[in-house]
Amino acid sequence: MPGYLVEDERKVTTKRLQEMKDAGKKIAMLTSYDYTTACIVDGAGVDVILIGDSASNVMVGNATTLPMTVDQMIYHARSVVRGVKRALVVCDMPFGSYQVCAEDGVRNAIRIMKESGCDAVKLEGGVEILDTVRKILDAGIPVCGHLGLTPQSINKFGTFAVRAREEAEAEKLVSDACALAEAGCFAIVLEKIPAELTRRVAEHVKVPIIGIGAGPADGQVLVIDDMLGKNKGFSPKFLRRYADLFSIITDAVGQYVSDVKEGSFPNSDESY
Ligand code: KIV
Repeated sequence: MPGYLVEDERKVTTKRLQEMKDAGKKIAMLTSYDYTTACIVDGAGVDVILIGDSASNVMVGNATTLPMTVDQMIYHARSVVRGVKRALVVCDMPFGSYQVCAEDGVRNAIRIMKESGCDAVKLEGGVEILDTVRKILDAGIPVCGHLGLTPQSINKFGTFAVRAREEAEAEKLVSDACALAEAGCFAIVLEKIPAELTRRVAEHVKVPIIGIGAGPADGQVLVIDDMLGKNKGFSPKFLRRYADLFSIITDAVGQYVSDVKEGSFPNSDESY
C-alpha cells in the first residue's frame, strides 16, 4: 500500500487495536456500505471499516437511522466484507434489534455475524444495555460501544447538538464508558461531545476511544460520503472534507450527458 501510512498487511483484530492504542498509534476508521467502496477504503489502509446504520441517511435518504432493519444491515455488511482483506469490519446493530431484551440482542448479533461475515458489532448506549452487551460478548461476539450523540435516540434528544455539556450528563457518560469497558467492549465510539470530556473518559478507560466530533482520541471515524464531500448540504464543524466528489461527479455526469446528446459518445474507438 504505497504512499499511505499503513500499519502492515496483517488482518486487523480487536487485539491489534488494543496494541495500537498501547503503542500510541492512532486508529483510522471509516464507514462503507458497498463492495467497491470497501475495496478502496481497505486498500488505502483504513484499520476499521464500519457498516454504519448511517446507511439509512446516506444510502437511502432517510432523515434518521431509525428505519434500518437487520436484513438491510446484513445486505450492506455482506457487500463490504467481500471487499475487505485487512481492516476489522464492524456492523452497527440497527434500532430495535437489541433494545427490547438481551435475548433479541444476542439473536440479532449472531444473525449479523453469521450471515454477513463481519468481525464485530456496535451498539448505542450505556448501562441501559449493559446486560445485552455482556450476553453478546458471552456469545463470543466482539462489541464496540457508542456513547454521546447516539443517533438512534435522536427523537429523545430532539436535537443533533453537542451532548454532555452539562456535568450530570458528562458524569453519566464517564460511568457508562467505564461500565462498557469493564464488560469487555473492545473499543468505544464517542460522538459529538466536548474534547475535554473525551480526555476525561480516556483517563478512566483503557480500551481504544474512537472519536467523531469528540476531539483528539485514540482513533477517529467519519462517514465516508461526508468526508468525500458527496453530500453538499452537510458541513458540521467536526467534518474535514478530503474531496469534493459532489462537484467531480456532477461535472463527469454533465459531460457524459453532453457527449451522448451531441453524439460524440461513443466514437469509433469505443465501438465494436
Ligand atoms: O452509523 C454510523 O455511521 C456511525 C458513525 C457515525 C460512528 O455510527
